[in-house]
Amino acid sequence: MKFCEKFNNTLTFFPNHIRGCCVMENLGPIYFHANEIKNINCKDLLNKKKEFFKNIENGNPPCSNCYYLKEKNEEENFSEQFNLIYLNNWVHCNCGCFYCGRMIYSRGKITEKAKKSDYYDVLPIIKELYKNNLINRDELRVVFHGGDLSVLKEFKPLVELFMKNGVKKIDFSSNNIIYQPIIEKMLKSNKASLSMSLDCGCREIYKRIKRVDKFNDVIKNLKKYVKATKSKNPDILVKYILLKGINDNEEEIRKFINLMVEIGITKVSLNLEHKFAAQIYENKILLPDTYKKLIELFYELCKENNLYFDNPDEIMNYIMNKN
Ligand SMILES: C[S@@+](CC[C@H](N)C(=O)[O-])C[C@H]1O[C@@H](n2cnc3c(N)ncnc32)[C@H](O)[C@@H]1O
Ligand code: SF4
Ligand code: SF4
Repeated sequence: MKFCEKFNNTLTFFPNHIRGCCVMENLGPIYFHANEIKNINCKDLLNKKKEFFKNIENGNPPCSNCYYLKEKNEEENFSEQFNLIYLNNWVHCNCGCFYCGRMIYSRGKITEKAKKSDYYDVLPIIKELYKNNLINRDELRVVFHGGDLSVLKEFKPLVELFMKNGVKKIDFSSNNIIYQPIIEKMLKSNKASLSMSLDCGCREIYKRIKRVDKFNDVIKNLKKYVKATKSKNPDILVKYILLKGINDNEEEIRKFINLMVEIGITKVSLNLEHKFAAQIYENKILLPDTYKKLIELFYELCKENNLYFDNPDEIMNYIMNKN
């Protein structure tokens, strides 16, 4: 029999559906489609979860080829409660990274003021989940994706709801163009992490990638978060996605690393753009030698500067080791 830990624990809110996992091009079983979301109830959710769990045990589609499907151990049982929630129910953003997946929804539109999701509100659903005891309050981890949380009207009320009802950790992901005092508060209480993609070390390249001129604001905000945590090791991760012909060179990587040291960021990661990574994973192309050299350089600079290199996910690990 098969088992998927991600399915057993996870609930993912996407713009057009609510589903059981958030990996592998979003293959996992769908609980509710767009037209059903307004009327969902927790009993239906639980019944569907039981049904999908059985399908997964039997290795049925859509999961049958998934990397995360494993042989089931005796102690691995069905869980009614979720302990991992991905919030991805909105796509609007105050930034325009050209590589970002949300562009297919928003056609590159940049939103400057906070507004509701164009799809549905997640706050009432989370309230129901707590009420029906479908959330493991001691273990719950919440991941904010988006879009950007800084222009989501529900953002602050959601964080307050989690803080009031029980949450172990919130992983915030933001472009950090706008400073969020509630993130500062959570970082200070060690109940949060913050991540972002900076992808560069200077204003010019930032503008080319992000299509807004906000490099200086972002750096100021990052410094402010680092200072507020009063930690030599703040739980803030800054990512660098290698982008062909834009930042895939030694000079920009060196600038990025120097900037991180100056700001006091101690955790960084180097990532491949998703579509590029998928082509390598599917053996359609090989990781270029120039990229191998840049990856080595990045590792070396991290070591030299005592920066923690955050491990890429399992798929990235696989790609790097296979090449
Ligand atoms: C979709 S954004 C949402 C949160 C927030 N706006 C941000 O930028 O961190 C979450 C993360 O997805 C990653 N991302 C988006 N599109 C990507 C792509 N095509 N390839 C690799 N990573 C991508 C970026 O690293 C980004 O930090
Ligand atoms: S087996 Fe894969 S696709 Fe299916 S729920 Fe688990 S992680 Fe998602
Ligand atoms: S800041 Fe985040 S959501 Fe906005 S465009 Fe960039 S990656 Fe996408």
